[in-house]
Amino acid sequence: MDIKVFSNQVEASAFLVDQYKQLLADGAEVFGLATGGTPEEFYKQLGESDVDFSDKVSINLDEYYGLTPGHPKSYHYYMEDKLFHNKPFAQSFIPKGDTDDVEAELERYNGVLADHPIDVQLLGIGTNGHIGFNEPGSPIDGQTQFVDLTQATIEANTRFFENIDDVPTKAISMGLGSIMAAKKIILIAFGDNKADAIEKTVNGPVTTDVPASILQNHDDVTLVLDEAAAAKL
Ligand code: GLP
Repeated sequence: MDIKVFSNQVEASAFLVDQYKQLLADGAEVFGLATGGTPEEFYKQLGESDVDFSDKVSINLDEYYGLTPGHPKSYHYYMEDKLFHNKPFAQSFIPKGDTDDVEAELERYNGVLADHPIDVQLLGIGTNGHIGFNEPGSPIDGQTQFVDLTQATIEANTRFFENIDDVPTKAISMGLGSIMAAKKIILIAFGDNKADAIEKTVNGPVTTDVPASILQNHDDVTLVLDEAAAAKL
């Protein structure tokens, strides 16, 4: 793993903007995108930059089950609000959280991934080491999954909702196998609450108990960290 440590999120995000300019110059076509608090500064800086994704494809990792695309806490809404309104892609794919046929939606999303192999997958990380919504114990070769969120994840994500009862308990997520199929992976982590997960991701055994640790098996992974997230390395 290539590990880059920056003194703060602003500097780390500026580095990421440069990386993405280079990826575009090198011909990347399909961009795997993530949500959460971590990429917000990066998306803000991308929005202010001159990068152009208008003939590119984006594929998001996951969506809460039960939320419509227009729901202000949905990941559809997040992506529109944080990035797409500034930087549209030719096509953008996100799992449909309000589907009434989950099996068909998993199939559809696996088809999207088969049709559009991901050149670069952006990831955040949960405090329990989850990537996308692949919680500890997720199958290592999993494709798109219908997942139960752990209590730790529900609690961590309560800050985005009015109260804990509003946080969805299920989600549709690209699987670990789908993530590992990306040609390049960039994982971002900021803050001391991510330091344990980052330490286990880098130095721990490869185990689905810490889903991000499987990234050790990928040959092109960059970790972009602030000093707090890197403190235990
Ligand atoms: C969520 C998302 C993940 C994200 C993680 C960390 O549960 N499904 O994709 O990486 O939590 O979120 P944050 O960046 O807000 O800490």
